Amino acid sequence: MCGITAGISTSDVTGTLLEGLKRLEYRGYDSAGLALLNDKGEILRKRSTGRVATLEEEVSKDKELRGNVGIAHTRWATHGKPTENNAHPHICNETVGLVHNGIIENHESLRASQEKLGYRFTSNTDTEVIVHQVHHNLELYDDLFSALQQTVKELEGAYSLAVISNLEPGNLVVARQGSPLVIGLCEGENYIASDVSALISKTRNFIFLEEGDVARITVDDVDIVDVNGNYVERKVHQSKLSSDSVELGEYRHYMLKEIYEQPTAVSDTLEGRLSGNHLLAATFGHEADEIFNTINSVQIIACGTSYHAGLVAKYWLEGLAGVAASVEVASEFRYRSHVVPENCLVITISQSGETADTLAALKYAKEIGFKHSLCICNVAESSLTRESDMVLLTHAGPEIGVASTKAFTTQLIALMQVVIALGQRNALTNELEERIVRELRSLPVKISEALELDAKITKIAEKFANKKHALFLGRGTHYPIAMEGALKLKEISYIHAEAYPAGELKHGPLALIDEEVPVIAVAPNNELLEKLKSNIQEVRARGGELIVFADPGTGCKQEDGLTVIEVAPVDDIIAPIIFTIPLQLLAYRVALIKGTDVDKPRNLAKSVTVE
Ligand code: F6R
Repeated sequence: MCGITAGISTSDVTGTLLEGLKRLEYRGYDSAGLALLNDKGEILRKRSTGRVATLEEEVSKDKELRGNVGIAHTRWATHGKPTENNAHPHICNETVGLVHNGIIENHESLRASQEKLGYRFTSNTDTEVIVHQVHHNLELYDDLFSALQQTVKELEGAYSLAVISNLEPGNLVVARQGSPLVIGLCEGENYIASDVSALISKTRNFIFLEEGDVARITVDDVDIVDVNGNYVERKVHQSKLSSDSVELGEYRHYMLKEIYEQPTAVSDTLEGRLSGNHLLAATFGHEADEIFNTINSVQIIACGTSYHAGLVAKYWLEGLAGVAASVEVASEFRYRSHVVPENCLVITISQSGETADTLAALKYAKEIGFKHSLCICNVAESSLTRESDMVLLTHAGPEIGVASTKAFTTQLIALMQVVIALGQRNALTNELEERIVRELRSLPVKISEALELDAKITKIAEKFANKKHALFLGRGTHYPIAMEGALKLKEISYIHAEAYPAGELKHGPLALIDEEVPVIAVAPNNELLEKLKSNIQEVRARGGELIVFADPGTGCKQEDGLTVIEVAPVDDIIAPIIFTIPLQLLAYRVALIKGTDVDKPRNLAKSVTVE
């Protein structure tokens, strides 16, 4: 979803802004642009639809397009099509240039009043009203910083903004409310971006703006005012992100790289948290002990893949820890009334920590009386970690591919750590804790074994080349895994895929089954096996083509119309994590055959910072 870079320096900033935009490409976008203030006091702009590489090529042809102050943007269309006119930066009267990430909800009323003032619109975006409003306020107030402070008071919605003006060549002004923005501090120059990864080759020193902050940035200084207009100091953080971790290396796609990184990502997420066969009490920070002692139920909130991790955790929390758990997608949770249980812990799960719905749902949960919150997040320096009482990081490393893979498996690891911590205070016995920890420790090796299925999966992927639909089946903890498999397949191969708890087949979806709809089942060797086998027979009897990922102990045998791919035997406790791997590989291999843009599937964004 939209990415912003901007900077102010004693030399040309063009290269740094474009390089930053490339590093933000993973967020998803459909057009890109930049505007620079040159030494003649002109704002020069270049915009293009499609990739940052296209913009870069056009910029390189125009030798005039250079400047020491600039703003740049990748746009993911919300209001108005992905055209050049709608691409950012937007400029008002050749005086003010602006880029925006977020959505302005009162854009229609602002537009109406600006039209009366004589402003002319050149795009269909909600953003254009902001640049006109800043221009209008610049005429009323003394300077750009004050004009932006006034403007944000008049906006409703979510935004991160970067603004330049030829009336103030020495200032870059920025603001943040509901969308992320970081300031990267350098020697004799300063930059801003939507996230740390965009600037990591320039600096390790970052200020994270807080909700409602507005800042004025010069080559050697940063002034920040908070939501009440008071000058504030914000801490400078040292980022630990390494620039190598966002490189593609030998892999063809980030998604494949990230699938193969899972053994390391999982062991990094376990590191320092286990001792012998126990979970260390310090895992959740020193305040956790007191909070966990009072907790008797859990409300999990998340979106997409992270929501699927939450669904698995519900089975674990109730089945292993004896703690009641509810799970809800954030966009639903935030818009309904709730009966708030006493002593209920809200757990948000998010790879990015910037998902607008999850952030808003957490805020809402606090407003309606949920007292304690824990977030499971992959980005230490994100909005969600700052808004939560307790943070449990997944150490998956940066995830660039839009389809979430290593974030999901590491979320499951972190959730199992929550299960142990809460279970110790409830139904979890010492023996069970020891078994879980033993199994967690074995995961990196077992995931590596599961990755060896890639060659077999590559062969069966051919079966999907001409298919338009697919059905995924699972039972128990493997029902959410089937949902995750279906989500992966649909988002990167554009094959319509649905997941069902296998027992639901005969209540409707069986009507869909014929030779054109492949059915993928996950069959671990557990107490639901016989039931699942009956469901598989129901599909076979209707001529459906079946692909079953099965534990060898299940006795599932290959026959006509039934392909069995054996997954090495694992304890049922960690089976959902292991069975995820072949489904990720299947989606990837099918997408390769279909020739889709695997890392940046159409219409999707990595970091969904708007509602
Ligand atoms: C699917 C996918 C999305 C995200 C969802 C939540 O592969 O990546 O469904 O899981 O947008 O994102 P986070 O976890 O960043 O809150």
